[in-house]
Amino acid sequence: MNPSLSAAPALATPATDSVAGNERFVRNAWYAGLWASELPVGQLVAQTILNEPVVFYRKEDGAPAAILDRCSHRFAPLSMGKLVAGDRIQCPYHGLEFGPDGKCVNNPHPPCSIPAAAHLPGFQVVEKHSLIWIWMGNKPADPQLIPDYSCLDEGDPLHITDPGYLNIKAHYELIVNNLLDLSHVVYVHDGILGSPGIVQSDVQVETQGEVVTVSRYAKDVAQPSMFTMLAPEGYERGDSFTTISWYAPSNLFLETGTCKTGQPKASGTGYLAIHLLTPETERTTHYRFSAVRWNVMTTGDEHNEQIRRKIYELRNFAFAQQDGPVIEAQQRRMDQARKALAPVLLSIDAGPTRYKRVLDRMLEQDQ
Ligand code: FES
Ligand SMILES: [Fe+2]
Repeated sequence: MNPSLSAAPALATPATDSVAGNERFVRNAWYAGLWASELPVGQLVAQTILNEPVVFYRKEDGAPAAILDRCSHRFAPLSMGKLVAGDRIQCPYHGLEFGPDGKCVNNPHPPCSIPAAAHLPGFQVVEKHSLIWIWMGNKPADPQLIPDYSCLDEGDPLHITDPGYLNIKAHYELIVNNLLDLSHVVYVHDGILGSPGIVQSDVQVETQGEVVTVSRYAKDVAQPSMFTMLAPEGYERGDSFTTISWYAPSNLFLETGTCKTGQPKASGTGYLAIHLLTPETERTTHYRFSAVRWNVMTTGDEHNEQIRRKIYELRNFAFAQQDGPVIEAQQRRMDQARKALAPVLLSIDAGPTRYKRVLDRMLEQDQ
């Protein structure tokens, strides 16, 4: 499929863009709540997730817990309180104590009874793949549904970038659209992650259940600086390839790399990339990211450590200074519109169109 400036026939029906002014949050799903390293023992960590205040902490056995971060008495944030014996949070204002399931377990004020309305909701949380995952809905949560990011557990730490975090001032779906549209790298990240030849490459889109995968394979193109850094000399031109999978509602996994022209992909080198989007509000998104190199060809621990840091810097720059400003400005333009917007769809929108269908279905079922 070649990108063109006219709407592709399969995508010709313009859909009203339903992002602006609409939460579109799936509650019964796993979200990256925190990197595991963001939750030290003994601390209370506050996050707003799907517009709900949440406080995370570790129990005495080290397992994570998360409850509503709003006391049932006078609504003080529990995250301003303290952890007390028995895996409890003590409210900073008048001392009510809450357990890891959100139940109020101590009222220090005589007669010390605990009204049923004092209990708070607790959230299901799991620590897996260097992350604390949270399920915001009431349906039973199955940890098997967490996407496979085991490369974060199994990879050599020398080749895994530090956990990244950005707060993007836009609805999470604008970032999903950005990530599933691989063509933007040519324009937004020219020279770093993309190069002009890539725009002419074939794009494949595949849906399997609630997973949408977009792939792009560019033959014999100039390689962007990210790839020339990862490969030994002689890789200034070659084939470059990227596959990105969206796991509903907002976790993505990307595999990218370069190889010599016409050679098998596995003979090249590249990295696996983790992109985790957790809606904070309908206009802000927690964006966590990391990358793990595959088939490392560069040698020397010191050199590889420099590359590890440089991959982080380049990706952080790309997301914070290149994608972020465009997406945030796009959100502002959409918010200015005085009527519902219908985007003109191009062939490059095949991935974003496909995921939206799946998400629309999930949103209906989530009600
Ligand atoms: S506000 Fe929490 S105990 Fe009063
Ligand atoms: Fe980007």
